[in-house]
Amino acid sequence: MSMNNRVSHMIRALIYVVLLPFATSIMPGCSGHEEHPHQEKGHHSIVEQLRHADKDTIEYEVSTEELMADIKKVLAQVPESEKEFYVLERQSMIKSYPCSNCHSVPLEELKAESKDKKKAHWNIELVHAGSDAMECSTCHDTNNLDQLKTITGKALTFDHSYKQCAQCHSQQYKDWIGGAHGKRVAGWAPPRLIYSCASCHNPHSPAFKPRWPARLNTQKLKELNGK
Ligand code: HEC
Ligand code: HEC
Ligand code: HEC
Ligand code: HEC
Repeated sequence: MSMNNRVSHMIRALIYVVLLPFATSIMPGCSGHEEHPHQEKGHHSIVEQLRHADKDTIEYEVSTEELMADIKKVLAQVPESEKEFYVLERQSMIKSYPCSNCHSVPLEELKAESKDKKKAHWNIELVHAGSDAMECSTCHDTNNLDQLKTITGKALTFDHSYKQCAQCHSQQYKDWIGGAHGKRVAGWAPPRLIYSCASCHNPHSPAFKPRWPARLNTQKLKELNGK
């Protein structure tokens, strides 16, 4: 077989193998067999298919249960979510808990007693919304400081403080439930365990301060200066 012949042979083979099946598949009624039985029930657009994309069809063989064993967590109280998930505990992280160690008498009494002394919570400065919208008692139950409260006065434990944030930041809350805001702990395999809002944001001053990169990029500087 000459070189030319061999090349034309290969091209013809290519047409049969690659192009012909493609051509028949785009011609209506030409495929001859039922490759896509679901198409009989009507065409499914990408968007329609995505609507069910949250229904996880992957059967995981691994689990992060073991990795999570020593991590303090609670089952999230999120009726909005179809799936159960865990959130990091907060209460056990708070050094001054139980607050009732000092707050066993009414706040007004405590305040009168400590009037001339250094403020007990001198390290807490409220930089969150304006003072019209927010004061200590917006979030803390001043009748029982061992717990938080909602705007309507319903009790919340410190472990479920994300529900408090959700009252005003509903968009971030929805994103957090879906996994688009926040972060997972211990990998992607189930069960799902995520950081609570207060794991990242200080509720008293929640905005992140702008900061410089950890290291000056000297290479970039050289490039910018054309050296
Ligand atoms: C070591 C004692 C002590 C502990 C523990 C303590 N507090 Fe206090 N707290 C005080 C005193 C005293 C005051 C009275 C005002 C002051 O001195 O700042 C006070 C005041 C407050 C106020 C009112 C502040 C204001 O300006 O109106 C809040 C809210 C509060 N505490 C929350 C808490 C919470 C929540 C905890 C637990 C996580 C806690 N405290 C734990 C001593 C304590
Ligand atoms: C937006 C809601 C909110 C407001 C307003 C607020 N707190 Fe808190 N506070 C929290 C939450 C939530 C925690 C638990 C934080 C965590 O999980 O680490 C907390 C923790 C604390 C603690 C224990 C941890 C620590 O930093 O010592 C004290 C004390 C406290 N708050 C006092 C106050 C005082 C005093 C004010 C008013 C000046 C205030 N808080 C205003 C939500 C709030
Ligand atoms: C009573 C309503 C209310 C509650 C409860 C509340 N926030 Fe806020 N928060 C606000 C308002 C109002 C602002 C100011 C928004 C602005 O300046 O655009 C704010 C600002 C913030 C910011 C800064 C946003 C920015 O763009 O800089 C963060 C982060 C934040 N809140 C997180 C939280 C977290 C976490 C909690 C729960 C511990 C919480 N908030 C609870 C009302 C609330
Ligand atoms: C894993 C850490 C983490 C967790 C958990 C987290 N956040 Fe954030 N949040 C961030 C970061 C990072 C930003 C971006 C800050 C910036 O751009 O300056 C942010 C930004 C925000 C802002 C500012 C507006 C915006 O969307 O950029 C709000 C409000 C907020 N978070 C609320 C919440 C609430 C409410 C929760 C819980 C339901 C939560 N966050 C959980 C890290 C976290």
